[in-house]
Amino acid sequence: MNIVIHGRRREQLSRVASAVRARGREVEMVEGDVTHEHVNRTMIDAAQAKFGGFYAVFANAGYGAYHTMHEMPEGELRRMFDVNFFAGASLLQLAARALIAAGKPGHLLMCSSALAKFTLPKFAAYSATKAAQNHVCRAMANELAPHRIRVSSVHPVTTRTDFFDTAAALSAGRREFDPPASMIQPPERVARAVVRCLIRPRAEVWTSVGARVFAGLGTIFPSLFDSFARLAQKR
Ligand SMILES: NC(=O)c1ccc[n+]([C@@H]2O[C@H](COP(=O)([O-])OP(=O)(O)OC[C@H]3O[C@@H](n4cnc5c(N)ncnc54)[C@H](OP(=O)(O)O)[C@@H]3O)[C@@H](O)[C@H]2O)c1
Repeated sequence: MNIVIHGRRREQLSRVASAVRARGREVEMVEGDVTHEHVNRTMIDAAQAKFGGFYAVFANAGYGAYHTMHEMPEGELRRMFDVNFFAGASLLQLAARALIAAGKPGHLLMCSSALAKFTLPKFAAYSATKAAQNHVCRAMANELAPHRIRVSSVHPVTTRTDFFDTAAALSAGRREFDPPASMIQPPERVARAVVRCLIRPRAEVWTSVGARVFAGLGTIFPSLFDSFARLAQKR
């Protein structure tokens, strides 16, 4: 696909743009903080102007930080919801309206997390943003089905990206979550799962069967799950 990519770091955008162009596709870059009101509109407009429209939109921007809920400053709680939830939700709203106005089918995706379905100590706010994304996608999938627009949420487990460095930097340098390397998946695994979902749409994309089963058990047996999480935290 030709794509519009977005982020704050120009050098990262240029790196991805070169990789896309090397595959013979066109790419348009939009720079800026996703919470700035004009950014989502600029992305949709860029797709319309450059490519005559779009088929899929993936709201991926997000971050985490380690805070107990009672200690998290309110400004940081609101900021996390602004980036992880409100910015992505507003992108999906704009994209849905544009597709409906054009009478075209499409696919809206949002990067949630396995932590949408259960939570861990110091991940309360992050999990709440991810659960909110999940609910929005589930409801929108039914609302938009008559317009031939599919909606999917993506639920990765621990993935080798900048995520944990960013979380540590926002938490006084503390790296509170350090799973063994064997439990960390490469980002390509998530990317492949997303591409499969674009080809054959589904409500939720999971990259680990174990995490999905774990999430199901955590819903049925919340006390047992939370005791296990406390034990894991002590270790
Ligand atoms: N890594 C994991 O273990 C894991 C697991 C489950 C779900 N996820 C989710 O996966 C998504 C991608 O994260 P990642 O793991 O790839 O981490 P990452 O390497 O830190 O990437 C985060 C992405 O979000 C963008 N971003 C963050 N804040 C932004 C802002 N205010 N404005 C614009 N763009 C912003 C970043 O671009 P710039 O920095 O250039 O702005 C970057 O492209 C997130 O939604 C995250 O919650 C990650």
